[in-house]
Amino acid sequence: MTFSGQTVVVTGAAKGLGRAVAEAFYREGAGVALLDVDSAGRQVAEGFGSRGLFIQCDVSSGPAVEAAFADIQRWFGNVAILVNNAGIQAYGKVNDTTEAEWDRVLAVNLKSAFLCARQAIPSMLARGQGVVINVASAQSFMSQANVAAYTTSKTALLGLTRSIAVDYAPKVRCLAVCPSTIDTPMLHWAIEQSPEPTAVLRECEQMHPLGRIGQPEEVAELILFLCSDKASFMTGQPIRIDGGLGITIAGSKREK
Ligand SMILES: NC(=O)c1ccc[n+]([C@@H]2O[C@H](COP(=O)([O-])OP(=O)(O)OC[C@H]3O[C@@H](n4cnc5c(N)ncnc54)[C@H](O)[C@@H]3O)[C@@H](O)[C@H]2O)c1
Repeated sequence: MTFSGQTVVVTGAAKGLGRAVAEAFYREGAGVALLDVDSAGRQVAEGFGSRGLFIQCDVSSGPAVEAAFADIQRWFGNVAILVNNAGIQAYGKVNDTTEAEWDRVLAVNLKSAFLCARQAIPSMLARGQGVVINVASAQSFMSQANVAAYTTSKTALLGLTRSIAVDYAPKVRCLAVCPSTIDTPMLHWAIEQSPEPTAVLRECEQMHPLGRIGQPEEVAELILFLCSDKASFMTGQPIRIDGGLGITIAGSKREK
């Protein structure tokens, strides 16, 4: 049990990738605080017994995050690991993204990581060490049409990752995890926006050299590794987990 006795905070843990990450840390012995706006996270936390704590929290709100970390401190003590995973997808070019949509995407996908890190890092320093993981995206490096605010937020997360890594080394390590297409409710919501969701899903599979999309558990395994002492010399880097998507030339077809 690699994380026995450690407290892990996972944002956006009610479903999808965050839920898989919370479950993986629980299996490895950690106490896990699950933060989410969706109350479905309560049931996930209940499955962890005394090692689970659900806090219904909008992580883009400074006061809500401050209150959540005060509860975590009371329940578990100091935080060892923070996984900034909460995120929302939004579509639009610059000219059809409203100011409110832009602010919302940047607040949930980027500001939340700053707000949570600001609460967690003093706790990590007090216990002597810690790890912050920011869940970024393949879209931190590449873009597609119609995702101006999302791709901006995910690219900026890499800057925040480097800043935390430099400012708090050697006690705190900080890494970004950059997935391509992962099988979560967010993906299914995104493909449902198309009139032909099944065709879009097949296209997503085909554009990956590995011939499929990723599973949340595969990303969770990477995060466990990065948070463990096995990755003790890694900090400040974005780590791609993308089935080879980022090494292909756009439009190139895979041979069957
Ligand atoms: N699924 C993918 O293909 C994919 C690819 C690259 C990156 N990502 C990133 O991975 C992360 C997880 O994505 P997912 O696919 O599991 O998404 P998801 O929509 O399936 O789950 C996201 C969770 O975050 C929660 N959340 C949203 N806004 C919140 C807020 N303001 N405060 C607290 N919780 C909030 C949601 O309620 C939900 O439980 C996101 O940051 C996303 O951008 C996903």
